[in-house]
Amino acid sequence: MRILGIESSCDETAVAIYDSQQGIIAERIASQIETHAKFGGVVPEIASREHLKVLPALASKVLRDANCDWPDVDGIAVTAGPGLMGALLVGVTYARSVGLVNDIPVLPIHHMEGHLFAPGLSNEGLPAFPFMSLLVSGGHTMLIRVDGLGQYQVIGQTIDDAAGECFDKAARVLGLPYPGGPEIAKLALSGDASVFKLPRPMLNKPNFNFSFSGLKTAVMYAAKGCENFNDQAKTDLAAATELAIADVLTKKSIKACQAEGVNSLVIAGGVAANLTLRTMLDKVAEQEGIKLYVPSFEYCTDNAGMIAYVGAMRFAQGDCIHDDWDANPRWKLQDLK
Ligand code: KG4
Ligand code: ZN
Repeated sequence: MRILGIESSCDETAVAIYDSQQGIIAERIASQIETHAKFGGVVPEIASREHLKVLPALASKVLRDANCDWPDVDGIAVTAGPGLMGALLVGVTYARSVGLVNDIPVLPIHHMEGHLFAPGLSNEGLPAFPFMSLLVSGGHTMLIRVDGLGQYQVIGQTIDDAAGECFDKAARVLGLPYPGGPEIAKLALSGDASVFKLPRPMLNKPNFNFSFSGLKTAVMYAAKGCENFNDQAKTDLAAATELAIADVLTKKSIKACQAEGVNSLVIAGGVAANLTLRTMLDKVAEQEGIKLYVPSFEYCTDNAGMIAYVGAMRFAQGDCIHDDWDANPRWKLQDLK
C-alpha cells in the first residue's frame, strides 16, 4: 500500500510517500521559517498563502522522486487539525481535489497522532502497547497513555503555555529569533546553567500536569534583574532555561510511567529534538528500567512522513471516510477512535 501524506498545519509545507513494504520512499519539506522569522512568530495569513504557492509543485516533485504518479497512490492522508485554520484548509482542499480527480480515498489525520507515532519511522520501530508518550511541541505539552491506535488517555497536560512556547518566549527575552527552541539549545551549549536559579513549576504536585508560563516570567525577571546582561549572561540564562524545562519534562514523564505501570516511553513533537532533554530522559529512563523511544531529528518537528505513516495504519485497519469532514483547528486527540 502506498500512502501520500500532506502536512500544512503551521509553517511547514510537507509531502511524503509511505510504502508499507519499503517505508518512506520520497519526501520534501518547504519551510517558511525565514518568512515568519522577521515577525517573531508565525503570521497565519502569510502561512496560508505560502502553502498555496508551493504545495501542488511539491506534491508533483515527491511523486517524481518516488518514480510514481497519482494512479500508483492507494490513499491520501492529510493533516486536518489541530493547527491554523487557513493553513489546514490549503492542505485539505488540495488533498480532496486530487483525491476526487484521481479517484483516491482521502483520510483526515490528527497532527498530534502523527507526532505520537513518529518513532515508528525509525529502525527500532514503535514499542508494544501500552506505552507512554510525552508530546511536546509549540502548542502542546501532554503525557498520553497509548493502548492502541485511537486509544489515548491523557494523563497530564499543561495548564497554560506549552514547553515549545516557553522556549520561543524565553528566546525573545534573550533577543533570539523564532523558532526559539533550537536557538536556545545552540546558545546553551556554552552556558553555565547554575548561574541562574529558575523554578521547576508543578514538579512536586501530585499530578502529571505542567505549567510553563511562570517559568517564562521567571526568565524575564532574571534578565531584568541581571546587572550586566551581557552575552555570557544570556548564554547562561539560555542554559538554565533549557535545563529547567528538560528537568520538569523528564521527572514528570518518568513518574507517569511508574504510576501507570508502563515501561516504554516515547517522546515526540518539536521539543523532542532537544538534545539536553533527550540525554537527560535517556539517562533517567535507563536508571528506572524504562525504555525510551525517540524519533530521528527530522521526524520530531513537523513533517509529512508521520502523517503518511499514521494514514497507512488507519487505512490498513479499514478506516474509511465519508464526505462530511472538514479542517478542524481545535480537533482534540481525545475525540479520536
Ligand atoms: O512539532 P513542531 O515542529 O510544531 C508544532 O506542532 O508546534 O514544534 C515546534 C516547537 C517550537 O516551539 C520550537 O521552538 C520547538 O518545537 N523546537 C525545539 C527544538 N526544535 C524545535 N525546542 C527545543 N529544542 C529544539 N532543538
Ligand atoms: Zn507539530
